[in-house]
Amino acid sequence: MSQIFPKWANEVPRKLLIGLIVLANTLVFVVWFFFSPEFTDVGYAPEQPVPFSHQIHAGKLGLDCQYCHTQVFDSKHANIPATQTCMNCHNQIRTDVATLEPVRQSWETGESIEWIKVHQFPDYAYFNHSAHVNVGVGCETCHGRIDRMEVVYQAEPLSMSWCLDCHRAPEKYVRPVSEVTTMGYEVENQLEIGLELVAKQNIHAPTYCQGCHY
Ligand code: HEC
Ligand code: HEC
Ligand code: HEC
Ligand code: HEC
Ligand code: HEC
Repeated sequence: MSQIFPKWANEVPRKLLIGLIVLANTLVFVVWFFFSPEFTDVGYAPEQPVPFSHQIHAGKLGLDCQYCHTQVFDSKHANIPATQTCMNCHNQIRTDVATLEPVRQSWETGESIEWIKVHQFPDYAYFNHSAHVNVGVGCETCHGRIDRMEVVYQAEPLSMSWCLDCHRAPEKYVRPVSEVTTMGYEVENQLEIGLELVAKQNIHAPTYCQGCHY
């Protein structure tokens, strides 16, 4: 009797099976790799108790970051402004809109607004804001174009490789300290200026483990 299928057809089921196993492993790897925290955190934008817009305040109104984040140059942690800072303006501007009700309530009761933290940082690694901004690492280098964000989202992974990427070649990123809060800073000869700044400020960003873990 003539064969309906050529001989190699016998091989198909086994190959299919092996193919499926390989595919399944790849899927597991892809899911594990791309959905592990350092990747899913990018884009994280929790809903806040007040629909505060950086696009309006830092963009349209042009307020400097330091108007509200007063501690960035002095402290290990950046601060979120107190209700008083909002009331500097909102005791006169938009005093009756519903979106500002939680701000007025916080002002009356003295209880702070419960802002939800966007950037999470593990406690087994060490990070200091002031050490960075005082040598000219710009806010936008780590946080993106905040002045265009209606709702703040995490722009960069904050992963170890992301930190090290800059620490190995800070000249690619540093700018004059006076430009730290500038949004949309750009120069043509970044490497040249960067190398000058690194030398002038004697910048040494740690790449050894104890620099960030201790
Ligand atoms: C009028 C006050 C104000 C100004 C000006 C302002 N911010 Fe903010 N910022 C806030 C408030 C309030 C929050 C908390 C609510 C939120 O996340 O939107 C915040 C949150 C943030 C966060 C998220 C922090 C976290 O992890 O939860 C970043 C990053 C940030 N601001 C950066 C900037 C930068 C960069 C600038 C300057 C371009 C700036 N801000 C200007 C008030 C301000
Ligand atoms: C320097 C003055 C100033 C400060 C400080 C300020 N705002 Fe505003 N805010 C404004 C102005 C002006 C508008 C209206 C802008 C527009 O609609 O173009 C506004 C609009 C808003 C709105 C939208 C109101 C609406 O129409 O629904 C909210 C919400 C708001 N601000 C929250 C805050 C919070 C929270 C803070 C403190 C972290 C704050 N603002 C600090 C000036 C300020
Ligand atoms: C080298 C990267 C880097 C630079 C530059 C940087 N930040 Fe951050 N920022 C971070 C990291 C990482 C976190 C989360 C860790 C933490 O909260 O300390 C953070 C957190 C914040 C927070 C949240 C603080 C809190 O406790 O909720 C604010 C607000 C903020 N940054 C504002 C700024 C502003 C404004 C500037 C510029 C003056 C700036 N950052 C420059 C990396 C950076
Ligand atoms: C875009 C550039 C850039 C990024 C991103 C960056 N750093 Fe740095 N970091 C620097 C520079 C420049 C210095 C050197 C400061 C000096 O020499 O005074 C530094 C210094 C440090 C120091 C030593 C100073 C201190 O605070 O004791 C630590 C620790 C550090 N960085 C941790 C981190 C961690 C953790 C991350 C990631 C979450 C990070 N950095 C991301 C540029 C960067
Ligand atoms: C510039 C700062 C920096 C340096 C230098 C550094 N780390 Fe990290 N490391 C981090 C940060 C930030 C994280 C947290 C990453 C995250 O949350 O995804 C981390 C996470 C880790 C983790 C946890 C596993 C993981 O991927 O989440 C291990 C293990 C680790 N580092 C080991 C080391 C070793 C070993 C060295 C030296 C070869 C080193 N680190 C040098 C910043 C640094």
